[in-house]
Amino acid sequence: DELKQILQQENLSDKKWLHIGGGSNLLFTGDYEGVILHSAIKGTEIVYEDDEAVQVRVGAGEVWDDFVAYAVNQGWYGAENLSLIPGEVGASAVQNIGAYGVEACDVILSVEVFDTQKGTFFEMPKSLCEFEYRGSIFKKNPHWIVVSVLFELTKKEHVYRLDYGNVREQMHGKELSLDNVRQTIIEIRKSKLPLPSEMGSAGSFFKNPVVQESVYDDIKLRYEDVPFYRVEGGVKIPAAWLISQCGWKGKSVGMAGVYEKQPLILVNRGGATGAEVLNLMEEIQESVRTEFGILLSPEVCIIR
Ligand code: EPU
Repeated sequence: DELKQILQQENLSDKKWLHIGGGSNLLFTGDYEGVILHSAIKGTEIVYEDDEAVQVRVGAGEVWDDFVAYAVNQGWYGAENLSLIPGEVGASAVQNIGAYGVEACDVILSVEVFDTQKGTFFEMPKSLCEFEYRGSIFKKNPHWIVVSVLFELTKKEHVYRLDYGNVREQMHGKELSLDNVRQTIIEIRKSKLPLPSEMGSAGSFFKNPVVQESVYDDIKLRYEDVPFYRVEGGVKIPAAWLISQCGWKGKSVGMAGVYEKQPLILVNRGGATGAEVLNLMEEIQESVRTEFGILLSPEVCIIR
């Protein structure tokens, strides 16, 4: 109701506006000449529960990791691999956040949306959300505001997802439990990713590109040990590897830099402007394009 009022009062349809979550996946290239809306819609409500599963509706303005911690404490399975991802619940659906072999869409049942053009609310079932790697129908329709997300988590017979990277190795010797998986994911993240509260970054800056088999074959001739993952539609090559090969790891241009522990992350070493980060992005894209013929596309949302 407040959202409807705000949109009417401010007459936002005539102005430039932007609805954001926690802001940790945004790069502002300058001051934003418009109105920024940030949801304060809180609340976590169990809407259905049986012996097998629970359905829980969570307000868009809840901190994502608070929800994951709550689910783990309750003994509900499914979201533990997504521990410590920065940001909020609404954005988890917009961005289809993902880590360590799990994506938000694996636990989303439906998404409640407010259409700012029609002034109406509607519920979008997962099958219509067009979830993809770091994307959804919500990302393509910025006039829709996510107000809550309905998740379904399991209570029994859960298959842990430990096969990504070094998760299983890091779990070695620990009892297989929800809490231990969460703590292990948190340890791995902390060892590789800077906390946005401590060092400005937006997590992975680029998406991992999926290239045609022929592009991969060509790289393989020159770099025998190129890491790769076969996925639908081609071969995924880690952007972190491509950036490393171009010599960017740990480098800086002005105060904008490439994180030494994970070159997919661009960091602000203090005082870099959005334009400087953008400039670094373009320099990296140019190197990777020249060396490998691959155009890296940004994973962060660039606000111009
Ligand atoms: N690699 C290197 N050099 C490095 C680090 C990594 O070559 O210094 C290569 C290695 O081959 C490694 C591969 O990159 O196996 C993958 O690295 P990592 O497992 O750290 O994951 P990522 O592909 O760089 C993705 C997500 C992250 C997510 C992790 C874990 C994207 C764009 N990024 O990163 O998501 O946390 O996997 O699942 O898909 C984010 O979206 O902001 C984000 C941090």
